[in-house]
Amino acid sequence: MSQFPLPRLGFIGAGRLARCLALSFSRAGYPVTAVASRTASSAARLASQIEHCTASDDPQHVVDAADIVFLAVPDDSIGTSAHTLRFGPDAAQSGKALVHCSGASPVDLLAPARDRGAAIGGFHPLYLFSGDLADLERIAGCSVTIEANGALKDTLTALAIALRCHPLSIPPGGRMLYHAAAHYAASFALCSLAECVALWGTLGFAEDDALRALLPMLAGTIETARDKGLPNALAGPVSRGDTGVVAKQLALLEELGGDHAALYGLLSRRAVGLAERRASPPAAIEAIAAAVEESLNRSLNQAAAGASVK
Ligand SMILES: NC(=O)c1ccc[n+]([C@@H]2O[C@H](COP(=O)([O-])OP(=O)(O)OC[C@H]3O[C@@H](n4cnc5c(N)ncnc54)[C@H](OP(=O)(O)O)[C@@H]3O)[C@@H](O)[C@H]2O)c1
Repeated sequence: MSQFPLPRLGFIGAGRLARCLALSFSRAGYPVTAVASRTASSAARLASQIEHCTASDDPQHVVDAADIVFLAVPDDSIGTSAHTLRFGPDAAQSGKALVHCSGASPVDLLAPARDRGAAIGGFHPLYLFSGDLADLERIAGCSVTIEANGALKDTLTALAIALRCHPLSIPPGGRMLYHAAAHYAASFALCSLAECVALWGTLGFAEDDALRALLPMLAGTIETARDKGLPNALAGPVSRGDTGVVAKQLALLEELGGDHAALYGLLSRRAVGLAERRASPPAAIEAIAAAVEESLNRSLNQAAAGASVK
């Protein structure tokens, strides 16, 4: 490391994520010494908000001026950027590190830097950055998923804590599955809402009215999950053991056609799994599971037959 008691931080890329992290680390007392971006003006805009921070359109400037270099560029540019950066022969001794912030891309994309002695790692804040100043407050309480070893892992953990975030450790090679799964808590939650809006649309409900009705219920469900955990927050016919309602709803959706019954069936299968994890699962849980599997057999077979006809 440098003569600074805290590592010097630098950013390549000055977009939504870099704006929040660079400003937050600086506010937390870390020296943020350099920012570079594809266009000099966006680097200058960010650097001007941070004391003693220099700006450039040359990424190498950041490698030379910082200990921990955050590569905050679009995922498709991570590998090519890593190839162009030069780390000196003392990179290992001086504690230089190159870290990317993607949840999906492998840390191995940074291998060219590792080959030149730098430590490499991943630092993925599980948060949707808007690019606005509000991010600086909202990121507190989120989790940051860290992939690194040794001293770099300790440093990245300290940096996550400095953001008032919870550090989460991920094993090497796990990022793609981790990122795919996280969609269920973000865009796929929206897709579930979209399915409800579409089905209600057949009853004449307008999308605005539907969302006004659904969003408070979703918010309440999230609060309950936070307070009671997933199995105990589960509501609806599966949680109550209402086999008749589940079977009728599956039949209705099968009649409606398309993939409505398949989607409902697959999610109901997960609901059965949650209900089974309760201290006292509903007595009818096996009957419900059987009704769900029978419907899934029909609807998934139908979908497969449709696909082979195409
Ligand atoms: N946004 C999120 O919610 C979020 C959340 C977690 C993780 N991440 C990850 O964070 C990383 C950055 O995402 P972002 O949303 O901040 O992207 P972004 O807002 O699009 O910003 C990307 C920045 O990188 C710069 N850039 C693009 N190509 C470059 C290159 N070849 N060399 C140097 N700079 C380059 C852009 O330059 P100019 O400004 O100069 O045009 C821009 O400042 C990605 O890996 C993403 O997966 C994002």
